[in-house]
Amino acid sequence: MYRKKIIEGFSRMIKEEKLEAVGKHFKDPEAFVKELKSYWHFDNEKQKLFDEFSENTISNYYFPFGIAPNFLINGKMYLLPMVIEESSVVAAASRSAKFWVNKGGFHAEVISTTKIGQVHFIWSGPHDKLESKMPELKEEMILSTMNITANMRARGGGIIDIELVDMTDEIDNYYQLKATFNTVDSMGANFINSCLEEFAIVLKKFLTTQDFCNGSAKSCDVIMSILSNYTPECLVQAWVECPIKDIGNPEDFSTDRFVWKFQKAIEIAKADVYRATTHNKGIFNGIDAVVLATGNDFRAVEACGHTYASRNGRYQSLTSLSLENGMFHYELEVPIALGTVGGLTTLHPVSKISLELLNNPPATELMEIAAVAGLANNFGAIRSLVTKGIQIGHMKMHLLNILNSFGASRIEKERAVNHFAEKKVSYSAVSNYLEEIRKSDQIINN
Ligand code: MEV
Repeated sequence: MYRKKIIEGFSRMIKEEKLEAVGKHFKDPEAFVKELKSYWHFDNEKQKLFDEFSENTISNYYFPFGIAPNFLINGKMYLLPMVIEESSVVAAASRSAKFWVNKGGFHAEVISTTKIGQVHFIWSGPHDKLESKMPELKEEMILSTMNITANMRARGGGIIDIELVDMTDEIDNYYQLKATFNTVDSMGANFINSCLEEFAIVLKKFLTTQDFCNGSAKSCDVIMSILSNYTPECLVQAWVECPIKDIGNPEDFSTDRFVWKFQKAIEIAKADVYRATTHNKGIFNGIDAVVLATGNDFRAVEACGHTYASRNGRYQSLTSLSLENGMFHYELEVPIALGTVGGLTTLHPVSKISLELLNNPPATELMEIAAVAGLANNFGAIRSLVTKGIQIGHMKMHLLNILNSFGASRIEKERAVNHFAEKKVSYSAVSNYLEEIRKSDQIINN
């Protein structure tokens, strides 16, 4: 809808006024307002909390909150909280969990949790001198952030290092301060950005007041100070393994045929960018669902994962399979930076419950759980793809959505679920079925 008129002062309106202002763009403004209000929480305090998460809020947007049970991870059982709108993701995760629970379950390990931030600046003075003054500059920057880092240091984290990066080959006079941080159990975005902005002030002062250029001080232009969402060191490895013979006969395939097709599917996802993207999307079905359920930033996790998938100069899949010494070993390696304190993690009442369900884990454990969810969903997808195909299961899970889109009643839904238990689901098959039962019901009623 193209709108010419600028809405003045929208952010200053109260929520009811905002609803009304937006409602004017609908054919039936009253119906619009009524519909959106029906999604407001009945508890005003809770609604206020949701409203304050973001800006210009007029209602709530509901997503399903589901549970994938029976996840054995590093010897511990978990119920995984998953927030996702796509049917069959929770079912696929649950099926994989069940498949692996008697084969040793899932294993996961966090390699490191180091995060990165950068001060990007332009400096036309001499490089050597800047380099030689770095230890002094670093000390000043660390001293200047003592207040900001106090709490984090008390929790065992803080600034790990600050280095100078010469980027002048890329852009004239362009340098970076590349800082590394340990933010313990928090995502630490605000902490990192506050430190970086302080570094920038110290840097500018340092370069303009020191005698870098024999008295003729050059200017230092700080372009920006911001964390990087590329956190390759926050690497998590998650894997499943068992003797090849224990893989059994998925969907009545012989073990050898199944394993061979599975292996080819993994090779294809390494070799072909189109397949790699979809393969990784299936991994993020699981990761994002856990990330969302626990109030973490799924955009950051996705951005980082896809950059990591391109680290060899070519976008590739994030999993690998080894079939050595008679063992089926399937592994996912992906950086996932998560927090279990701060941000929305404990502020959002449902994320708080998700974390409680996981026994209030430290960030490293949550990173392992999220990676396992990714591997489980991907294993489930490949298993289906190389055997019976994805659609039969997917459409079965999607059946209720199709029925809802046709306005089916509760009884019609129950009948349809029974009817399609052993049949292929498609839009036209469901539409025909509904038409048939509605017609025959009409005949009986008349
Ligand atoms: C659908 O959301 C995800 C899959 O396409 C993933 C894959 O193809 O591996 C099934």
